[in-house]
Amino acid sequence: MSGLSPVSDGAYDVELRAVTKRFGHLKAVDAVSLKVRKGEFLSLLGPSGCGKTTSLRLVAGFEQPDEGEILIGGTDAVGTPPYRRDVNTVFQQYALFPHMSVLDNVSYGLKQRKVGKSERYARAREALELVRMTGREAQKPTTLSGGQQQRIALARALVMRPRVLLLDEPLGALDLKLRKEMQIELKRIQEQVGITFIYVTHDQGEALSMSDRVAVMANGVIEQIDEPRVIYDRPLTPFVADFIGDMNFLTGEVVEAADGGFAIDAGAGIVVRGRGQAAKGTRMRVGIRPERMVAVAGPPAGTANSAGAEVVTKMYLGDQIQIVAELPGIGSIVVREQRASADPALDSIHPGDRIALSWDESSPLLLGETAPASTAGQQEEQS
Ligand SMILES: Nc1ncnc2c1ncn2[C@@H]1O[C@H](COP(=O)(O)OP(=O)(O)O)[C@@H](O)[C@H]1O
Ligand SMILES: [Mg+2]
Repeated sequence: MSGLSPVSDGAYDVELRAVTKRFGHLKAVDAVSLKVRKGEFLSLLGPSGCGKTTSLRLVAGFEQPDEGEILIGGTDAVGTPPYRRDVNTVFQQYALFPHMSVLDNVSYGLKQRKVGKSERYARAREALELVRMTGREAQKPTTLSGGQQQRIALARALVMRPRVLLLDEPLGALDLKLRKEMQIELKRIQEQVGITFIYVTHDQGEALSMSDRVAVMANGVIEQIDEPRVIYDRPLTPFVADFIGDMNFLTGEVVEAADGGFAIDAGAGIVVRGRGQAAKGTRMRVGIRPERMVAVAGPPAGTANSAGAEVVTKMYLGDQIQIVAELPGIGSIVVREQRASADPALDSIHPGDRIALSWDESSPLLLGETAPASTAGQQEEQS
């Protein structure tokens, strides 16, 4: 084990308190607060450059925060060097020792910690079994596939039995099929060992499918942290709405607000009715997922939550049909439907044809106020 002094067994394995890390003028991590629960699979998800790796390196101890506190197992970790922290990191580049056998690679960290040979080999074999690599002990890493090498790298980290495992895009170098397999494997392993995982990825599918919670990052801040289902169904900011899945955006003035519902005049005769708190007279942005829209051939009904559009492209995505259509005066809209339940007449539509879009009142998501369309500025309050 790590040789750390005993720690208080709080509910959180890792805690960041208003942590800021600067590189020159850039705030790579900007006052981030985060509590990672014991045994949790938490993903840091966001586009390249948003501060995921830096956040992980701060927890690992490879970077020091300029401001804020980092607690590991309830104990202040700032100032503790990486090798004394009860965490281990798995990178995309597995960095296995090419001249050493798989067994020696996996037991290397234990050797460094002066664990006796029979115990370290026994523990290394156990770790290899966990990642389903039993039988490869004597092989050199270079004789293994990329996916197998990544399993060895994982075993090498797990054998140390860290409190927390940090994984930085560990599947990034693998092809899609292997990546999907390894996602399932990682989830199984994490559930089996019960170690807290902090998993960095820019792949939303990966984050959403594996994690207990996802922290969506942008520009050094956490925009939203929640269960995958909530992140997808109820994104709190336009960035999260846009980054996670596909989203159609409509904007307009709230013309009605009552009883937990609203109506927004989105322009071009389109009225969006939905549920949620919106103040009458404000300009709000709403999002509607492509799979929450229905398209039928022909003219629109002319009621709320419907719109006429012109087909731009039509694609078949296996069991789904996807149509990109133009809403006159607004922009393009994506609709995605299961072919089994879609209007059969869509099969014979072409670019330029008119279709009618509609959606249920439960579909529009309120995504916050937007600036007024005109440059008239804000009205002065008179008293
Ligand atoms: N050692 C460094 N020196 C200067 N800038 C850095 C350094 N490490 C990261 N950055 C910058 O900090 C920002 C966040 O980087 P990083 O945490 O690696 O993002 P991510 O892992 O989300 O892609 C980026 O703008 C990156 O260029
Ligand atoms: Mg990174």
